[in-house]
This record gives sequence, C-alpha cells and structure tokens, in this order.
Amino acid sequence: MNLPSRVKLVDVGPRDGLQNEKAPVPAGVKIELVHRLQAAGLKDIEVTSFVSPKWVPQMADAASVMAGIQRQPGVRYSVLTPNMTGFEAALKSKPDEIVVFGAASEAFSQKNINCSIAESIERFAPVVAAARAAGIFVRGAMSCTVGCPYEGEIDPARVGYLAGLMKGIGVQHVGVADTIGVGTPRKVQRAVEATLRHFNIDDVSGHFHDTYGQALANTLACLEMGVWQYDTSVAGLGGCPYAKGATGNVASEDVVYLLHGMGIETGIDLDKLVDAGVYISDFLQRKPNSRAATAILNKRAG
Ligand code: HMG
Ligand code: MG
Repeated sequence: MNLPSRVKLVDVGPRDGLQNEKAPVPAGVKIELVHRLQAAGLKDIEVTSFVSPKWVPQMADAASVMAGIQRQPGVRYSVLTPNMTGFEAALKSKPDEIVVFGAASEAFSQKNINCSIAESIERFAPVVAAARAAGIFVRGAMSCTVGCPYEGEIDPARVGYLAGLMKGIGVQHVGVADTIGVGTPRKVQRAVEATLRHFNIDDVSGHFHDTYGQALANTLACLEMGVWQYDTSVAGLGGCPYAKGATGNVASEDVVYLLHGMGIETGIDLDKLVDAGVYISDFLQRKPNSRAATAILNKRAG
C-alpha cells in the first residue's frame, strides 16, 4: 500500500456536471457554483468547455462564465479545448490550464469529437504547443479507458497507446477516465498501470463516472497505487452527451468523506461543499446525488 497523505481534487461539476443538462443553466448560476466551490476550499475547478455550441449547447456561454468569475489566488481554473478554434477562444479568458480530450476507443473518438484518434492527436498538437508557449498547463483527458459505449471492453494496451501519443505531443498530465462508469478496481488499476508506462505517478489522475456504483471502490484502488489526483463532481452531477445512459462523476462530497475518514488531507471543508451541492441541486430541482451529502443533510435536519 502506497497511500498518499494528501489528495488533490479537481471539481469538474461546472463542466462535466452541467454539460449534459437539457435546460439551459444561466451563466450566473454557473459562476455562483464556481464561487461556492472555491469558498469550500477547492483549488482546482474545471469551469467550462470551448466546444461547438451545436454539439454541446450548454457550454455556449463559456466566455461569459470565465469572464464572470472572481478569481481567487491559488485556485487553478481549467477549460476544455478540443482544437485551435476552441483554444483561441479560450485564450482570451486566460485559463490556468487547458484540457485536450481524446479517447482510447476509435468509435468514441468519432462520436465525441468527430475524428479518429490519430486525427485528434494532430489537432491537439498545435493546441498543446500554443498553450505551453503561453505558459498554460496542459492536461489530457483519456476517455473510455476501461469500457466504451460502442466498442465494449477496452484493452489496457490501447490506453497505453493513447497515453504515449499524448506524452509525445507534450501533454503534461493525463486523466484516466471511466467515461461510462463500467470499471471495477482491477480493471481501472490496469488502465492506470498502462498510463504509468508513459507518465509519472504525479502526472496521472483518475476520473470515474459512477454509473454502476463502483467509482469510490475504483478511487480507493487507485489511492492504493499512489494516485493522488482525482476529478470529482459536486452533488454527483453529470454525464457525457456522447455516452448515453452514463451518469455523473463520483460525487466530490463522497470522495472527501472517504479521504477525511482515512486521515488523508484535501483542504476542503465538507460542510461548505455540501452547501455548494445543495445550491446547484436546488437550481436543478433535484436532490444531491451523493450519499455523504444526503447523510449530512439528514443529520442537519434532525
Ligand atoms: P466538427 O464539426 O468536426 O468541427 O466538430 P469543424 O472543425 O469541422 O467545424 C465545424 C463548425 O464548428 C465550424 O463552424 C467551426 O467554426 C465550429 P461553421 O463554419 O460551421 O459555422 N467549431 C467550433 N465552434 C466553437 N468552438 C470550437 C469549435 N470547433 C469548431 N472549439 C468539435 C469538432 C471537436 C468542435 C466537436 O465535435 C465538438 O465540439 N465536440 C464536443 C464534444 C464534447 O464537448 N464532449 C463532452 C466533453 S468530453 C467528456 O465529457 C469526457 C471527459 O469528461 C472525460 C470522460 O469522462 O471520459 C473529459
Ligand atoms: Mg467525464
């Protein structure tokens, strides 16, 4: 066991969490969510995506959201940029970090970003170079590292292949994503192992959707490998428009509860995080999709 003593969480709620919402969420609500997350102690927030509004209408207000945030020193604000068009638009909002997003599965690459894996790397290469020249940190998201909605199970070798391509174009950190939440601990560990052939443990994170209720177990399995960075989503919001039926990321509240219970520091105030989750869930007229948040809210009510 190689448990870290401190874990960094990137809250992807404003982006991954909201991108799939059918009814428009006003920019003001997204901005307030970011403010509440930073007030809860989050130091990394994935704010929005500079993608085609025809593909993902909910992210059409990316520039307004970025412009409206009152930035706190020490907080890193990241945005998704699939190509140079997205990167050039994002640059004006001065992100601290950009995310290029590829897939270990060919079919998912086609459905999500309308190109093959090889073409996606060609599109990312100038984005990565331009970002690094501008001093912006570059993260790569690797989708479907365990399973794909179109191709089924994914061989870890394909994850290693994608990680190698990402490394080759200068991506500084990669996230191992279980896009549709089908992974179980050993499978997720194998995807991480394949990634570790190309990236250092400090440059790898986990991004687990919770469709089959395995995301906390998968997180623990990766903690045991020494992975200390995870993407999570407040109130368990989310899903990907090109991964039908997949639910949100593991709830940030549940992961914080797990980590604090294991004596692992996060710098996050769980009570304030629960409040942030209630804020956005109230707006969406539903309950937070987090067992820890539900328990804490029940306790408060009692
Ligand atoms: P395309 O149609 O192949 O792009 O889309 P194109 O280059 O042929 O351009 C077509 C039109 O789109 C043009 O406009 C471009 O200007 C415009 P027109 O001339 O027709 O008026 N366009 C753009 N507009 C705004 N922003 C841009 C942009 N690029 C081109 N960046 C593209 C290719 C990648 C743009 C499209 O497929 C797209 O936007 N896909 C979005 C996919 C997405 O956002 N998916 C969800 C995020 S990924 C995710 O959730 C997974 C993750 O969480 C990890 C995990 O869980 O797996 C990260
Ligand atoms: Mg995701």
